[in-house]
Amino acid sequence: MQKKRSPKHLAIIMDGNGRWARQQGMDRVRGHTQGAEVAIATIEACVTREISELTLYALSVENMNRDQREVSFIIKLFVETLLKEKTRLHENGIRVNILGERKAFDSGVLQVINEVEHLTAKNKKLKLNIAFNYSGRWQIKEAFFRAIETHDESTCAIQAYDAFEKSLGKVITSDPDLLIRTGGEMRLSNFMLWHLAYTELFFTEVLWPSFSEETLDHAIQVFKSRDRRFGQIKDDVYIETKKKITAT
Ligand code: IPE
Ligand code: IPE
Ligand code: MG
Repeated sequence: MQKKRSPKHLAIIMDGNGRWARQQGMDRVRGHTQGAEVAIATIEACVTREISELTLYALSVENMNRDQREVSFIIKLFVETLLKEKTRLHENGIRVNILGERKAFDSGVLQVINEVEHLTAKNKKLKLNIAFNYSGRWQIKEAFFRAIETHDESTCAIQAYDAFEKSLGKVITSDPDLLIRTGGEMRLSNFMLWHLAYTELFFTEVLWPSFSEETLDHAIQVFKSRDRRFGQIKDDVYIETKKKITAT
């Protein structure tokens, strides 16, 4: 029997930070601090597990409407974590790519993003996409605008559509094989709406700050046991069905 493959592209909705902090009797934002440490540990765990692309949902466009104190805390933590970890990420062969609407950030934040992306640009071991001030619909809208910007009335719709599709595939270079969402909710919350079309979904009650290599490995095992058909009929299933039909 053919060995089941590990996911090449893993996407994670890192949810449950606030609830975790509350359970510990702490302020919500402490959950984000712990969550950032778990994110770093998870990135390293992915490097040793044949995963070549990892997309982490760290902040949604909708999250920006939370209490300003929490939003500012998350942005500061994001910048501090990038600065603290950039050398280690680089030495581990990780290429960092920040996804999302950047207009909301001041020049200090943008400078750190550019610095880390530039430093790690040539790394090949793991492509790390961090979705920060991101929304799936925003990404589709951006690709649409990019496509029409470069096409006028004389170019045909097919060419414009190709440009649109290409733009969507430019930053996220492959579709995720597996999506993990922690925190117990079973929804996408505006994450990667285009790219998740055929992704296997894994939901866990574990709150993100308690996520461990054990849960990661469990999710990978579950993924390996799934039968990915992409709308097709697998030969063995087909033969069995055909046999049953002819026998009746
Ligand atoms: C996920 O944790 C992190 C962000 C959305 C920024 P939450 O902050 O949503 O934590 P819960 O879901 O309220 O516990
Ligand atoms: C999704 O979590 C966004 C991130 C984890 C960054 P939310 O906590 O914002 O999702 P909802 O509000 O429960 O859908
Ligand atoms: Mg949440």
